[in-house]
Amino acid sequence: MKDQIDTLHMSADEWDERNFPRPAGCEFDQVVERALSRRGFMRGVLAFGSGAAAMGTGLLSTTAARAQEAGTRFPFTPIDIQTDGTVHVPEGYSWKTMVRWGDPLFSGVDGAFDHETGGTAAASDKVFGENTDGMESFLYQGRQLIAVNHEYTNRDVNLPHTGDGVPTGAEDVLKLQNLQGITVMEIAEGPDGWAVVEDSPFNRRITHNSPMRIVGPAAGHDLMKTAADPTGTMSLGTMNNCGSGKTPWGTYLTCEENFNGYFGSTEESQDQKPVATAEGYTRYGIGADGWGYDYHKWDARFDTSVNPNEPHRAGWVVEIDPTDPDSTPVKHTGLGRFKHENAEVVLARDGRVVVHMGDDERGEFIYRFVSNNPYVPGGSTEGLLDDGTLYAARFNDDGTGEWLALTPETTGMEMGEMLIFARRAGSIVGATTMDRPEWISVNPNAVEGYCCLTNNTRRGLRPNAGGDETPVGGPNPREANQYGQIVRWFPHDADHAADSFDWDLYVMAGNPTVHGDAYAGSPNVTPGNMFNAPDGMAFDQNGLVWIQTDGDDSNEGDFAGMGNNQMLVGDPVTGEIARFMTGPNGCEVTGLCWSADRRTMFVGIQHPGGDWPDGGALPRSAVIAVKRDDNGIIG
Ligand code: FEO
Ligand code: CA
Ligand code: CA
Repeated sequence: MKDQIDTLHMSADEWDERNFPRPAGCEFDQVVERALSRRGFMRGVLAFGSGAAAMGTGLLSTTAARAQEAGTRFPFTPIDIQTDGTVHVPEGYSWKTMVRWGDPLFSGVDGAFDHETGGTAAASDKVFGENTDGMESFLYQGRQLIAVNHEYTNRDVNLPHTGDGVPTGAEDVLKLQNLQGITVMEIAEGPDGWAVVEDSPFNRRITHNSPMRIVGPAAGHDLMKTAADPTGTMSLGTMNNCGSGKTPWGTYLTCEENFNGYFGSTEESQDQKPVATAEGYTRYGIGADGWGYDYHKWDARFDTSVNPNEPHRAGWVVEIDPTDPDSTPVKHTGLGRFKHENAEVVLARDGRVVVHMGDDERGEFIYRFVSNNPYVPGGSTEGLLDDGTLYAARFNDDGTGEWLALTPETTGMEMGEMLIFARRAGSIVGATTMDRPEWISVNPNAVEGYCCLTNNTRRGLRPNAGGDETPVGGPNPREANQYGQIVRWFPHDADHAADSFDWDLYVMAGNPTVHGDAYAGSPNVTPGNMFNAPDGMAFDQNGLVWIQTDGDDSNEGDFAGMGNNQMLVGDPVTGEIARFMTGPNGCEVTGLCWSADRRTMFVGIQHPGGDWPDGGALPRSAVIAVKRDDNGIIG
């Protein structure tokens, strides 16, 4: 039992390690001997590039002195760490749960939720889903809409009758499939706070079984065809919806991350696969057992011995129109296939659409898409997320970088295959292997992009799944990096479409109470604001960057003094970082958006621990609403 429970709560990395163990030794074992003095690190990494002119000096001087000079822009007193089972916010602020897993979106839903069963399978596509993640807010016809991702499940919690979370049949699998995907809903603020508007015509669930259109250069490719869809242009479901994005034309982008975990094979050997897909399976971590969802045992669509191309139809960015509940979501193959974290959309100076995307796996890449045509307000948006060029980032040690175009010419790959196996394309052009790129956010007040590199315990020790080296250096400066960092880039010509940039590290997380070297973190990390594993990230309208963590909350050893996962806010100008919120133990704080009037901040609490005060046995992931007590603007 214990083994099964531990297996249930393994991280994606741990699952990957278990299913795809890497060789114990490699040439990089020698590289790890390189000592990085703190001073050497700072000189080598932070003092380079034009970024240093704007910001590096802020990191090089003490945070306190700089903040005092500039005057803090944070209108709150930072809070201490916490290790308990609830949420904490600063004095003068309050929070309240808005919606939890199992809350009905419609009136009269039988079996929506109870703490005995977790709700019925029949009701599971009519309720708010599990494990809330990325979300975006939309104002439409005066109504406040919100689209929310449901990334994965907590199977032992969602299927309490199983005891161990292992599905016992097709009904259990259907329930899991329905609890994931996306919720689109209308919300409204009343005297008791924010709540779902039940029966709103905009309320909608999109699940692992919802029909999707596949468009762009890889649509209809042979690798996308299945027996059920010989055209390769229609698929079912969007899965492992992690981070989000929003287009200038008001649609929602949902990003398919660890899609590989849902696929398995009822045949013992994976050798049955066509050669072309076998390579993709290895690089993308598709194995015979999956990650314990067991879909393949009850739903042949997920059985790769029957449907070897089905995994190619996941791992994309999907566009949803939140204002039209009858619209069919669209998978955009132009944005490439990998383990998408989020999709940060910004317009280039000439109006072309630029989409920044991270591939969250150890040693994978940061990508950018630039459309061929500009966005014209009110004009057609057809092709703006497909007709263009995909790039992967190279970060040079000297603080410069380039976006490397992925094309048939640069990669030697045919276009459709290149997008389906974008990771291989990135390897071919020599993109920089990163410490797990999570959310990317662009500063609305300056032409600069930020990416959370959450951690990489294999940095300098193991190649990535494609065999690319992961040397210590550049924006990934620490071997076996357990803390993470945030890299940012400053596009040349102040244009997000430029093909070159300068970069620096905004922050390097660490623990100055445990370490005296680079693992202490950058100077803007102090005993008072420590955190690990930066993950979710969003800029507010004031140009402050909110940082959410998905790290080790043991509060011990390397992580002593960091407490539960949390949300901090950073000032890009001064480098100052302050803790704003702490989540309940066991949780990840992920997903952030604001009400249209900016007086409420919606924050996701994913997989809270058993102490989460919800009046019953099953801890339910939730979206909370955070407000100032004076109802002032909150970001
Ligand atoms: Fe779903 Fe990489 O976080
Ligand atoms: Ca994440
Ligand atoms: Ca994470």
